[in-house]
Amino acid sequence: MSILHTIEIADWNEALAPEARAQAADALESGMVLYFPRLAFALEEKERPLLTPDVSNGRAKNVSLKPDGELRGTSWTGEKGELLKSMIARFAGTATRFVAALVPAYASRLQRASTSYRPVEIAGRPASAVYDDTRLHVDSFPSRPMRGQRILRVFSNVNPAGAPRVWHVGEDFESMAQKFLPAAREGSRAWAHVLGTLGITKGVRSRYDDLMLALHDGAKRDDNYQRNVPQTEIRFPSGSTWICYTDQVMHAALAGQYVLEQTFHLEVGAMVAPARSPLRVLERLRGRALV
Ligand code: SIN
Ligand code: FE
Repeated sequence: MSILHTIEIADWNEALAPEARAQAADALESGMVLYFPRLAFALEEKERPLLTPDVSNGRAKNVSLKPDGELRGTSWTGEKGELLKSMIARFAGTATRFVAALVPAYASRLQRASTSYRPVEIAGRPASAVYDDTRLHVDSFPSRPMRGQRILRVFSNVNPAGAPRVWHVGEDFESMAQKFLPAAREGSRAWAHVLGTLGITKGVRSRYDDLMLALHDGAKRDDNYQRNVPQTEIRFPSGSTWICYTDQVMHAALAGQYVLEQTFHLEVGAMVAPARSPLRVLERLRGRALV
């Protein structure tokens, strides 16, 4: 399977021909990474002082800007906090306009979730297996039920020293699911309801969320799988941008520092080909509805 679908544009406002847009959407939904080697998110001169891991509060690995404007993961306040927030918000706006123009079918259905700034070097950051993003995984979060909705992410490497962001990309979603689904357990729906009602999870977890988390944890915990499954190293250079469905692409981030990232959520029904969604694939493999 080819992993990258490369698009050689260098301007966030450059319009692609309709066929090129259709090919991009098809590549994305088939589980490829859209790669824009020349599409850089240029920092403004006044934003240069933000290129330090000190912006992080030392506990969170990322600084994140919630769609409601709340900034998390930093102890910076006042003028420095505002500068940080404005850079992240600038990326959010750029990424949102870009994806809406790239896949017009998504435009009115894209839900903007968090935007993050990742100023901490990944390599050598300690983490237990299930929190370790240097291990291949699909994205799934215990307290953020997706109920089948897609997770689409835009990444831009803004490293000032030219260091690449190094990813490994593994096998296709269905091959991975066939390995880890048999051992995946669905929890009690009544309990999921209690956690959702108390606000411990942001909404009620569905069977789909239980299975996706089981695939995430199952793959990350399996040393043999991590070592032996075919995987390709990709080095995203500084000044490049890439987009993929991180709930579908098996990915691991091994090294790199200074990336901006925008997350979108999207209903399965907004996809060009909903049958390719993890929800529909897992429902087919499991033989039942999962939301
Ligand atoms: C991840 O989603 O696992 C991390 C991606 C990155 O920060 O490059
Ligand atoms: Fe991830």
